Amino acid sequence: MIIHQLPLDGAGSMLHAKNAAVNIITLSTLSSIKMHTKCRGGFYPSSDKVPRGEVPDDKIEWSIAFPEYKPRQYTAAHILSGPSYADPDISKPDFKPRWNAKDGNVNRCSHEGPYTIVDGFPRNIHGRTGITGRGLLGRWGPNHAGDPIVTRWKMVSGKKVLHEGTGRFVLQFICIQRRDSGEWAIPGGMVDPGELVSTTIKREFQEEALNSLEMTEEKKKQTEQQLKDLFQRGEEVYSGYVDDPRNTDNAWMETIAYNFHEDNEDGILYSLQLHAGDDAKAVKWQDISMQLNLYASHREFIQTVAEKHNAHW
Ligand code: BGC
Repeated sequence: MIIHQLPLDGAGSMLHAKNAAVNIITLSTLSSIKMHTKCRGGFYPSSDKVPRGEVPDDKIEWSIAFPEYKPRQYTAAHILSGPSYADPDISKPDFKPRWNAKDGNVNRCSHEGPYTIVDGFPRNIHGRTGITGRGLLGRWGPNHAGDPIVTRWKMVSGKKVLHEGTGRFVLQFICIQRRDSGEWAIPGGMVDPGELVSTTIKREFQEEALNSLEMTEEKKKQTEQQLKDLFQRGEEVYSGYVDDPRNTDNAWMETIAYNFHEDNEDGILYSLQLHAGDDAKAVKWQDISMQLNLYASHREFIQTVAEKHNAHW
């Protein structure tokens, strides 16, 4: 295991204070802190106001003993009422999930490799979150999403905008405001049972950023035709676990994010009319920079895209 000496900045210095006696942290601890920032501490994000049990930075990893750890159990009432997208309670005798496998139409594999099952419950692949149960998530174990990162160059008076500070062109992406938390985010969504992630990504983009749910069939077909080329040129930029505020010790979010980039100033993305719909209450073209503050791990995905295009960050 690689050992780093303190002091370190950011998350490392928080650990420094708590861990002064030991005076070392491992790279894997740093990576756990990064993955469990938004899904640790404070209250679980539902109207039931359930506090998460405290999980210090150096106790996130399951391999570290933490005998005092007694997290509250919480699954939201609407999940327990058994909507079609949710699993039954684990105690139900006829619920026999095939963990770490394609279980009929439901993908119970993690993008990050096998997760463990402890006392019958799948265990969060990135460590403790301070809460057990499913919270607001429907599935035990991984809950799969897909994210479309749709980008174009910022143009003013027909010219690409150069950022004076970095000397790089400014990229923009289509950003929605989530109805649940009010935070700005990529217009992604959950993969339906049996659905290809590529289908989820297109469907969610059209529902949330173009409000396709309220389009006539004819307009929908026309829009799909216009976007066809762009969607064929997608490139995967991320696949794995997400630091989502809804994660628990037994249920967590994972996603696959694709970048669909328009380089051509006559291309469809320079004339497309945006209309928020479904789970989005607003939509806009957002300039990309390191000042962004986005839902879950979305800022990191956007940074990857900015770097990929050698754009301003
Ligand atoms: C969102 C995705 C997001 C995922 C994980 C889903 O609810 O629609 O955009 O990546 O959660 O946070």
